[in-house]
Amino acid sequence: MNTTKPSNSHREQNLAGQVAIISGGLGDIGSAIAIELAGRGADVALGDIRPDADAGPRLEPLKSLGRRCRYDRVDVTDWKQVGRWVEQVEADLGPPTLIIPNAAVVTLAPTCEITPDQWSRDLRVNLDGAFHLAQAAILRLRALQRPGRVVFIGSWAAHAPHTHIPAYCASKAALRMLCKTMALELAEFDILVNEVAPGYVDAGLTGAVWRDHPEQRASGLRIVPVGRLISPAEVAFQVAHLCDPDNRHMTGTSILMDGGLSLTSATTLRKDER
Ligand SMILES: NC(=O)c1ccc[n+]([C@@H]2O[C@H](COP(=O)([O-])OP(=O)(O)OC[C@H]3O[C@@H](n4cnc5c(N)ncnc54)[C@H](O)[C@@H]3O)[C@@H](O)[C@H]2O)c1
Repeated sequence: MNTTKPSNSHREQNLAGQVAIISGGLGDIGSAIAIELAGRGADVALGDIRPDADAGPRLEPLKSLGRRCRYDRVDVTDWKQVGRWVEQVEADLGPPTLIIPNAAVVTLAPTCEITPDQWSRDLRVNLDGAFHLAQAAILRLRALQRPGRVVFIGSWAAHAPHTHIPAYCASKAALRMLCKTMALELAEFDILVNEVAPGYVDAGLTGAVWRDHPEQRASGLRIVPVGRLISPAEVAFQVAHLCDPDNRHMTGTSILMDGGLSLTSATTLRKDER
């Protein structure tokens, strides 16, 4: 289900000399992104709200690739903590040039049931937290007059309405517009800002829901037009594509990798199900 072992030794070392900073870095997708970027030569800083003891298994594959890496416990909803994190990473590894706001939470509750606290938690982690990291790291790049890349981890939930996750959908839709706004502001400084928006990943947030409700995994898979679920490594591959120094023209874009899910509607059935 989750790909944690280095599998990208064949990739070009085109990110050598770069420093990646990844929030939610102990999660399934964050960890896969770390391995992919490290496999291409980047040093990597992981941040997450989880205890230091959880970081070892996520740092090990990065070390075995010969990269410098570190873990910091940081709550992305606290902009001061995020600012200190960026400073510490710069002091240790150098200024982050590949900025990956990835941390997120999801509350499963319909609009008539979600509480104000749940609503604001989803917005604060998924939107405010992503902004805090992007802003803090970009401020350093601007001060140093360095180019860089921001890759937000969005979701297909911003591209099609979903019931039962209103705050998550709204947070990811707002993130999309933040991505475009920042892309426009920062293009002249060679700081490119994009988004990768996955569909059903068979791990992480969705994987956790599916562990409790395996029948939902089967029905989810049934409605994906390409008939496949996504692995964290496949998300990481698209992030690396946007970080590639030769990819100089994409900014403000969204790589929507949902297997065609957002092209369907709730009433669409496959032919053999009618
Ligand atoms: N799993 C999917 O199907 C799926 C689909 C589309 C998009 N995504 C996106 O992928 C990204 C990664 O999610 P994942 O599926 O790997 O889930 P995950 O739960 O494995 O990872 C999320 C990480 O964020 C961390 N986190 C939560 N709150 C935090 C906070 N306040 N400060 C710092 N870290 C915090 C968690 O501890 C966790 O390690 C998210 O942005 C998510 O919205 C996931």
